[in-house]
Amino acid sequence: MSSPASNRPGRTYTARTFPVTPPIYQSTTFELDDRAYEDIQGTGGLHETWYSRFSNPTVQAAADAIAQLEHAEHGMMTASGMAAIATSLMTLLRTGDTVVASRQVYGDTDDLLERDLPRLGVEVVRVDAWDTEAWTRAIAEHQPAVVYGETLSNPQLRLLDIPPVAETAHAVGASLIIDNTFATPRCARPLELGADVVINSATKFLGGHSDVVAGVVCVNGTPLHEEIQRRMITFGGCLDPHAAYLVWRGVQTFPVRLQEACRSAAAIADIMVDEPGVAAVVYPGRDDHPDAKDVVPQVMPDEHGAMVTLVLEGGDERALQVIRRLEVATEATSLGGVETLASLPFNSSHFNMTPEARLEAHILPGMLRLSIGLEGEDRIVADLRQALDAVDG
Ligand SMILES: Cc1ncc(COP(=O)(O)O)c(C=O)c1O
Repeated sequence: MSSPASNRPGRTYTARTFPVTPPIYQSTTFELDDRAYEDIQGTGGLHETWYSRFSNPTVQAAADAIAQLEHAEHGMMTASGMAAIATSLMTLLRTGDTVVASRQVYGDTDDLLERDLPRLGVEVVRVDAWDTEAWTRAIAEHQPAVVYGETLSNPQLRLLDIPPVAETAHAVGASLIIDNTFATPRCARPLELGADVVINSATKFLGGHSDVVAGVVCVNGTPLHEEIQRRMITFGGCLDPHAAYLVWRGVQTFPVRLQEACRSAAAIADIMVDEPGVAAVVYPGRDDHPDAKDVVPQVMPDEHGAMVTLVLEGGDERALQVIRRLEVATEATSLGGVETLASLPFNSSHFNMTPEARLEAHILPGMLRLSIGLEGEDRIVADLRQALDAVDG
């Protein structure tokens, strides 16, 4: 392929070679050809690569890889998980609309729902993620335009029963948006269960190495894809090609990382449940999980994620002493990396809630959240034991 400028050094490689990994197309703009020109005239430039805020080959490589995992027709990368959430909500909502949303959502999503949407004239109604009857009642009563929840709530690790909530939402003409970050597309595929829009913070398990902030929106159907893509373009929350390359690379090992992390998490949950000083263990793969009987087999049927929540005896004060003594796990917010991260909701993800509000949201004193990495269950269990012993001894 030649073009008027193709004799510029470096310009000919992409047309002549077939690299095994996607090149990082660090180019803001692309030479206009007839196809791009036609697309700009016809759709506003949604389908051709001509300017990187609209589309970039490296960014699209990451989007396609994740869409494949979510069994989606289309994926769109965004600058962060929050950009994916905000762009999707703003696409589907108008002034005067109502959102029925889970009470248990990520903190900044909660801010968006409670502070920003009401300012724009959107009413927000909240229900507990796991209370399917409450979803049905609220959706019937409020006739929302959007229903919003997370597959797996943080830190309670309760499941949202997606199929009946999707059915009720669709019966009133609402779109169901699901944040699948905690469950991951390896363990749950919300689009197949009836969701219309699936979001992931690719910062977490998809990127997988705690080295990139990114988000992704997955949908089926061209009209919805184009609607959201247009907002991504006008709101400007596009992903940078370097970051997209890191996400793409992370996704290549996602299945094996997750398989091992889920296996390790299940083993750790089973061991820690008998540990002195541990009041309870919450893991969706255990028979004593409150959703084990009805919801887990539908929503997360095979593997049950890499998140484990321990409820330590002695409340938040003792949990803080324990977490500070961990040597293998690192006390840090976020999740989904190859390293085990530990955090306490009371001083990180849910610090801005009163103890009473936390209790009301089923966040118990002494809850310690673990994002299980690849160190192996023996090392992680030994680490937890030595930290518990150090505090009690
Ligand atoms: C469930 C969930 N959704 C969304 C986000 C936001 O993702 P990001 O930090 O990539 O914007 C987070 C971040 O922790 C999260 O835990």
